[in-house]
Amino acid sequence: MPLIHQKSAEIYARSRVLIPGGCVSLNRRVEPEIVFVRGEGAYIYDADGNRYLDYHAAFAPFLLGHACPQVDAAVRQAMDEGWLLSGSGTAPWEADAAELLCACVPTLQQVQFTTTGSEATYHALRLSRAYTGRPDIVVMQGGYNGYHDEVACNVMTPISAIGPRNPGGEYPFVPLTAGMPPGIEEHVHVVGFNDTAALENLFKTGKIACLLSEPILQNIGLVKPLPGYWQTVRNLCTRYGVVLALDEVKTGFRHAIAGYQSILGIVPDLSIFGKAIANGYPLGAIGGKAEIMNLFDAPDSAKRVMISGTYNGHPLVMAAAIGTMRHLLQSDGAIHSRLDALGAALEQGLQELFQQAGIPAVVVRQASAFCVYFMDHAPFDWHDIAENHNMELDVRYRRALIERGIYQFPLATKQGSISAAHTNNDIEMTLAAVSKALKSSELMGKAGT
Ligand SMILES: Cc1ncc(COP(=O)(O)O)c(C=O)c1O
Repeated sequence: MPLIHQKSAEIYARSRVLIPGGCVSLNRRVEPEIVFVRGEGAYIYDADGNRYLDYHAAFAPFLLGHACPQVDAAVRQAMDEGWLLSGSGTAPWEADAAELLCACVPTLQQVQFTTTGSEATYHALRLSRAYTGRPDIVVMQGGYNGYHDEVACNVMTPISAIGPRNPGGEYPFVPLTAGMPPGIEEHVHVVGFNDTAALENLFKTGKIACLLSEPILQNIGLVKPLPGYWQTVRNLCTRYGVVLALDEVKTGFRHAIAGYQSILGIVPDLSIFGKAIANGYPLGAIGGKAEIMNLFDAPDSAKRVMISGTYNGHPLVMAAAIGTMRHLLQSDGAIHSRLDALGAALEQGLQELFQQAGIPAVVVRQASAFCVYFMDHAPFDWHDIAENHNMELDVRYRRALIERGIYQFPLATKQGSISAAHTNNDIEMTLAAVSKALKSSELMGKAGT
């Protein structure tokens, strides 16, 4: 019996009347149209009462699971104690959150807080330009760094729009949105991931203020750096005076408490965090070298970089971040070890099931984040995915799992995220559902086509 989504359909019908596209943030609009109304631990519930094991995690922030007791208790306490948004001066929780963030991520000498990851990456660009006096920035083909004009480009770009792989060169700027003023592309350079020659060729021009990139491309699944890639990039940035701004909005706190940079062993000039830092509450953060961060408070107003936002440092969000970071610090690595073990079990089980079913597939995983690519090797850049991954099978696979109570966002290459609330039983249940799906006609009837 297919799942019933009658109430979801009714709510969509109402939303469509006044909300263009029927939902806020139209990157959330997918088929099937399910309206989720409650989350607890590893599970989410829709308006019709159907229950799903959640691997979407709202695009990854819920590292500790939905309604995490430790995080929600911190938020409730802040409400009970009347923590306020005064809009005037600082607050003790700002100092607490800053101290905790710098304790978690040792490369951060100073930090600032925003409400979203996009705002924080926006500030990274401004800081870098103010610091270097240079105009241009570099981003990755297949990377996502937020919605603002210069970075809203080149994620899952059709190859017809960017041409074949161009080692050592750059790709045309392909906007993700209408409504940009002309000329934005003039100062943005798009290169392939894992292509250090392309970076050096651009850096040599002396125009580049900043390289802004995710350390692992996690908005096209999981595209990992080749061994030594980030060490070379770090050296190139130092040699050419380019600010290395590592976008850890997705990788930060998820792969390690000190960010993926701690696994790489590199020191970025700036780091950007969001998502898991407050376990689903809206927080962005930027931090790094004091000499760059201090530009937010430069004595010379011509050199000062503006930071402002009515809701920056919102007390309930700060409480959530403090609760999240304290919980992770107190676990002393145990949460991340457990997440890694769950991830390993899922990876191995999935790989075996695909092998048994004779479907060419590779499971790419970093700790609790994973992606199944229907191709015969782990991809190393966007071109590799666009040319080899079976996108249509990917979407059918996700929909077949949703029908079996396993929620992975039904859009090709979107990352799966395990939370600390998932259990070994949940992983086993997932594998049983995948096994059934791989035998089903809705998936296998058309597999390989
Ligand atoms: C790597 C990365 N950077 C920045 C952002 C933007 O963060 P936000 O959606 O909070 O503005 C995202 C969002 O998905 C992201 O994945």
